[in-house]
Amino acid sequence: MGIADRERERWLRAAWLHDALKDAPTRTVRELAGSAWNAPSLWHGPAAAARAARAGERDRGVLDAVRYHSVGYARWDGVGRMLYLADYLEPGRRHHDKRLRKYAARVPEDPDDVLRMVAAERIARAIVEGWPLLPETAAFWNAIL
Ligand SMILES: [Fe+2]
Repeated sequence: MGIADRERERWLRAAWLHDALKDAPTRTVRELAGSAWNAPSLWHGPAAAARAARAGERDRGVLDAVRYHSVGYARWDGVGRMLYLADYLEPGRRHHDKRLRKYAARVPEDPDDVLRMVAAERIARAIVEGWPLLPETAAFWNAIL
């Protein structure tokens, strides 16, 4: 994609950080997250962002990418959007198939369009599963239409 080194480094920091606490004890994650979201599976993002900030990460875009990577965020910059895409499209995930490989191949040429398709799938799954749609997710969807 010809991304500048500095931006590439931001993407990589977000990628390394986003699931850093996914397997941490629930109590630890909850304490760090301080989130109003009542689904424990969503706490690892805010917890990782809080821990990264404590360790010296100051890039607001990187921290917001990590914090909201499971739910979406209307005010993301390129880091958050790319992490959201990568989190869904990375090869080797259980749901990865030919269709998602096609999405991933299209990211360099049309990341905004692929982002809308990925968000639509992720949000549709939440609706089908009967999960509550968070205000952050609805605002994210409206922001990328
Ligand atoms: Fe995650």
